[in-house]
Amino acid sequence: MTTALTSPDAQVEVGRAPALELRGVHREHGRGANRVQALRGVDLTVCAGELVAVMGPSGSGKSTLLALAGGLDTPTSGEVLIAGATLSGQSPKALAALRRRSLGYVFQNLNLIPALTAVENVMLPRELDGISARAARREAQAALGEVGVADLADRFPDDMSGGQQQRVAIARALVGPRGLVLADEPTGALDSNTGEAVLRVLRARCDAGSAGLLVTHEARHAAWADRVIFLRDGLVVDSTGTPATPESLLGAPVPVPADGSRGGTAANPASDGPNAARDGAGGADGSDGFDEFDEFHESGESGESGGFDGGRR
Ligand SMILES: Nc1ncnc2c1ncn2[C@@H]1O[C@H](COP(=O)(O)OP(=O)(O)O)[C@@H](O)[C@H]1O
Ligand SMILES: [Mg+2]
Repeated sequence: MTTALTSPDAQVEVGRAPALELRGVHREHGRGANRVQALRGVDLTVCAGELVAVMGPSGSGKSTLLALAGGLDTPTSGEVLIAGATLSGQSPKALAALRRRSLGYVFQNLNLIPALTAVENVMLPRELDGISARAARREAQAALGEVGVADLADRFPDDMSGGQQQRVAIARALVGPRGLVLADEPTGALDSNTGEAVLRVLRARCDAGSAGLLVTHEARHAAWADRVIFLRDGLVVDSTGTPATPESLLGAPVPVPADGSRGGTAANPASDGPNAARDGAGGADGSDGFDEFDEFHESGESGESGGFDGGRR
């Protein structure tokens, strides 16, 4: 790649390595009359150092996209590559190791292990990876510091506010050298100051060389990204240039699909604007179909949203 690239997906700086690639990815769920095409041919490249936001109505395939990107799900057809390696054909063990080492997940509510302190929760993935407890603890402390809760290291989850727990969960997703960070509405259960702090951390990670893929309903959060892709009915229907700004998001055209089909309510940032998106975000995506993640969403939405411990500016 030596020349300027023309495809919106390929607005990447020359010389940066693709951390994540989706090539012609389709994902169907169910059979017969119940068949749902969650993704219908998605091509996407996210390079090291790049933060890409994914927006779209509830049910448009955002969580499916993230699950595939993280190797938690397999495409019906097409290829997913992480750091240049295809995921298909890897053994479950190899996949698990790859997820642990190379990927960080931030979901709306990551369940912390109640019997472990904050620092122990954050250390866990690194210890599973075989690094010494001492080194794991050092890294975990640093990750807690990054999200502004270093002083809570020895607290148990039950003794923290919802916002504090969320930050610890984020630290756990970011600990160690993760080349790819996937975040599915990580700020959904947080007040706006804490949400902003989370975005700042993600941005810093990407500036330090990780690649990031962030699902969000909020234009002001998407504005932290280098570019934004819009999903509708399982297709990338538009993509902003780089960098994204609130203005570019509000002005971005999002075509209505030919079949005028299904779509959620949080929907089109072009018409809803950041405030509408933000106001509608809380419950709009809680009823979508991805079981594993919705468990997080649902438990997160029920009781933990009130826990604000002061935003880090
Ligand atoms: N495990 C599943 N079984 C059946 N349908 C699913 C499953 N996961 C997702 N879907 C369907 O796929 C579509 C995309 O879902 P999802 O990726 O969760 O969208 P989003 O995150 O944008 O709300 C929806 O119609 C949803 O109902
Ligand atoms: Mg979703």
